[in-house]
Amino acid sequence: MEAQLHVLKTEALEKIAASENVKELNGVRVAYLGKKGPITDLLKGMGKLPAEERPKMGALVNVVREEVTASLEERMALLEEQAINEKLQSETIDVTLPGRPVQTGNAHPLTRVVEEIEDLFISMGYEIAEGPEVEKDYYNFEALNLPKGHPARDMQDSFYITEDILLRTHTSPVQARTMEAKGGEPIKIICPGKVYRRDNDDATHSHQFTQIEGLVIGEDIRMSDLKGTLSVFAKKMFGDEREIRLRPSFFPFTEPSVEMDISCFKCGGSGCNVCKKTGWLEILGAGMVHPNVLEMAGYDSKRLTGFAFGMGPERIAMLKYGVEDIRHFYTNDVRFLSQFQRTEV
Ligand code: PHE
Repeated sequence: MEAQLHVLKTEALEKIAASENVKELNGVRVAYLGKKGPITDLLKGMGKLPAEERPKMGALVNVVREEVTASLEERMALLEEQAINEKLQSETIDVTLPGRPVQTGNAHPLTRVVEEIEDLFISMGYEIAEGPEVEKDYYNFEALNLPKGHPARDMQDSFYITEDILLRTHTSPVQARTMEAKGGEPIKIICPGKVYRRDNDDATHSHQFTQIEGLVIGEDIRMSDLKGTLSVFAKKMFGDEREIRLRPSFFPFTEPSVEMDISCFKCGGSGCNVCKKTGWLEILGAGMVHPNVLEMAGYDSKRLTGFAFGMGPERIAMLKYGVEDIRHFYTNDVRFLSQFQRTEV
């Protein structure tokens, strides 16, 4: 029986040493130490031995069992560690591998111009006001000193929905609405938004475009305030060297009314293709708020005065970025739009 035990032990230790992985080793464990294994069998067979041999044999079997168990545990620890290392090895991430580029969008050029203008005016203490695009004839025209049948309505061909409701033709109705809401108090706002006119679309006309209107009402607001404000605006948008020029014009809601030109940013005023050899670029319309407009909204035109200006971000973006066709802003061709990546962080 001793010899049998010796063979068993040698065999078990060989198989343990030859096990290549945890699973195999577990198989060996079950085969040799399990309930149906040879060692258990030997222990069970002890009863058949003469009584005086039993303690010696019992001790021997136990020693073999402990040796086999110890060897198994040692091998198990080693194989488990190996398995973990292999896993770590196979799952390492190469952090030096360049990532796949993520396509990011960017602000639409018009949004960008509008935001730039908003930022400038906010820094000068203006608030942003908005109003409906589907507007009452009253706010779009009448409250702006353009009663029904007024010939100057022809300047703005309109999309009427009913006789009294239309798609606003300019952002000036926000002026009228704000004045009405403020009930005679001073105002300092800009109103960006979409406007609509019954125009045939071509390189410089669109039936839908955007405007930004500015309105300041307070005590002692003068033409010189308007001029100073517009000059700051021109320099901020088109460069510090820009000069401005005010030409007399007509709008029913302002008196006097002006058009503002800036000295051409391309040639500096000597004449080029951008300014069509005139040295000047027409940028916006403006003027002192007409007393009728003030009075209609409940303002005392003797006590408070104001100025207003209105511009088209499309025109500003076209000049600033050299865009030749207004329709590029609306057709959403990514080859056009992706040229306006913001570079600043
Ligand atoms: N609302 C005018 C337009 O669309 C622009 C403007 C606004 C002119 C404010 C003067 C003052 O033509």
